[in-house]
Amino acid sequence: MNNNYFSLFSICFLMLGCNSHQKPAESYFPENFDDVSQIKYAQYIIQGKILYNANCSNCHQHSGQGFRNLYPALIMSTTLTNDIGSAACLIKYGTKKSKKASNLNILMPAQTELSNLEIAEILTYIGNSWGNQKGFISVNNVAKYLVDCTPH
Ligand code: HEC
Repeated sequence: MNNNYFSLFSICFLMLGCNSHQKPAESYFPENFDDVSQIKYAQYIIQGKILYNANCSNCHQHSGQGFRNLYPALIMSTTLTNDIGSAACLIKYGTKKSKKASNLNILMPAQTELSNLEIAEILTYIGNSWGNQKGFISVNNVAKYLVDCTPH
């Protein structure tokens, strides 16, 4: 390989590397945001991914595919798609009584130590990854959702 090709290759490699660092490849990025919103959204996605991997992926897996009948998939999850408010409550307070007959009565644990901002970041990440496209879920949204949580 001569030097020119090598530089070209290195630049492509760097660009790909940086790009995937800024925008997790599995996540949806809306086109119609202004620059400031784009940056804020990207921060939520990146921070949300870190928090998800630390707090959720041991059950729901990095891929969001869930695990057998024990832990539901978050890909196209009906809770995430239809009722993001109850997803926020679920993350904060967990489930008291399992609704899913097939999952051997395993519950989702409460994670009350997560702040509203952290929940917003997690929801923005999982709500816009693996094919989910819920858009930006702000910390103000989460504060509203958590006002009237009913235990699940
Ligand atoms: C110890 C395992 C465990 C951990 C850790 C866990 N979950 Fe869950 N999660 C579950 C189980 C079990 C259910 C099914 C609860 C039910 O319906 O009874 C569930 C359900 C869900 C649902 C609803 C899915 C649907 O459509 O039915 C969402 C969304 C969710 N979890 C997100 C998260 C997020 C985000 C985190 C991390 C902050 C997390 N979970 C951490 C076990 C876990």
